[in-house]
Amino acid sequence: MIMFYIGVDLGTSAVKALLMDEKGNVTKISSREYPLYINADGWSDQEPEDWWEQTAEALKELVDGIDASEIQSVSFSGQMHGLVLLDKNDNVIRRAILWNDQRTANQCEYLNNVIGREKLIDNTANVALTGFTAPKILWVKENEPENFTKIAKIMLPKDYIAYKLSGVHATDYSDASGMLLLDVKNKKWSPFMLNLIGIDEGKLAKLFPSYGVIGAVTEEASSATNLPAGVKVVIGGGDQAVGAVGSGTVVNNMCSVSLGTSGVVFVSTDNFKVDYSASALHSFCHSTGKYHMMGVTLAAAGSNKWWVEDILKTINYSAEQTDIKELGNNRVFFLPYLNGERTPKNDPDARGAFVGMSMATSRHEMTQAVMEGVTFSLRDTLTIVRKLGVDVNTARIYGGGAKSPLWCQMTADIMNVRVEKINSAEGPALGAAILAAVGAGAYDSIEDACAEIIKVTEVFEPNTQAVKSYNKKYEIFVKLYDDLKDTFKEISLL
Ligand code: XUL
Repeated sequence: MIMFYIGVDLGTSAVKALLMDEKGNVTKISSREYPLYINADGWSDQEPEDWWEQTAEALKELVDGIDASEIQSVSFSGQMHGLVLLDKNDNVIRRAILWNDQRTANQCEYLNNVIGREKLIDNTANVALTGFTAPKILWVKENEPENFTKIAKIMLPKDYIAYKLSGVHATDYSDASGMLLLDVKNKKWSPFMLNLIGIDEGKLAKLFPSYGVIGAVTEEASSATNLPAGVKVVIGGGDQAVGAVGSGTVVNNMCSVSLGTSGVVFVSTDNFKVDYSASALHSFCHSTGKYHMMGVTLAAAGSNKWWVEDILKTINYSAEQTDIKELGNNRVFFLPYLNGERTPKNDPDARGAFVGMSMATSRHEMTQAVMEGVTFSLRDTLTIVRKLGVDVNTARIYGGGAKSPLWCQMTADIMNVRVEKINSAEGPALGAAILAAVGAGAYDSIEDACAEIIKVTEVFEPNTQAVKSYNKKYEIFVKLYDDLKDTFKEISLL
């Protein structure tokens, strides 16, 4: 008999369901989309019922044609930080407010500057960002008091789906870390934050490790999804931590670099670490049961897409890179802050800039500068992590930008790490299936499962000469933002 494990990745544009056998082979994937409601003020909402309906459809398609009795468990990766509010009958009170929503600027200003960043870091290991959940609860309290009084349960997106399947209100430490309500170091809800926001602990879900079994598929959920009743429901985690499981970034000091629209540097650590320099470096629980740190640059492969498609008017990315022969020799610099910047600047007014061109500057040198600028800004996160005494020397790379071997080598040279590509591109959905398998007892630990399932397929070693010249260039890159910071502010006020 084959054993199957299901991973569900609840994303912002779509839900993806993945079927994995006990050897870690991905045998089927199904996916369904749902609407995202964005308005001109930067509000970003979704209907939790849409998530559930489309997840149920994706699961039906996934299990169609297989012997459903072979399914052991299901687990989740979820878009993080989203606020799902349920009333006393477990009905959704209002649309979920998502991770990329910008309405909470005033609440964040209050939390960071009146309550104070240090106090927040002491109690939650993090500062307030507009995307995080606690500022959203404050926003509802201040702007929709009638909804605030109805709140019986506060949930995160994937936890709502786990609830619909199992009837249990649960969450996990990795996703809960992004709420600004969890005492990350001690893995418990923070009494200080609950008091500050004005909610009691009973309104929050029960905390589990990501591989924890919270219950089983109910009869009602079984008829909606065609999963047999009784299949174990394993809570899963936030998409970054579960994506790290899917890339095997689970051991101490290991790092992953994602070159998607935005770019993320994710560092797995055995021990809790926190940065007090107000850098917006996130200190969260990992889905392994340990910890991680994470920094986000908002326009990574997105900067390259803007440059190649919108400005150069082509879609042939590799043709733009063929003339880039030597890494480390470019004198053109690019600041990749096209969407402002999260880590480490936490500056919504920052903008893009090309600096250092001459009449001899060529098109490919500017392309190179774009890729280098993005990678320098990812190195910013690594710089903070290294200052905390974490010795990172290997990075797993994935995302659209990682398709370019040149960008992989550049990452090795700029970050001075060994860069590894792996055998799977399924990241969060595969990570969720691995959590399902570990929760069902198929593997002793997440680390064991990853060692078995995730294989390195290609390695890029740092080139000593290029590392040296990039070290020098990085200093100039850092200085450029400092020099332009006030100008960016002035531009934003025009
Ligand atoms: C993590 C983050 C995103 C969202 C959506 O901090 O904001 O990864 O979870 O994918």
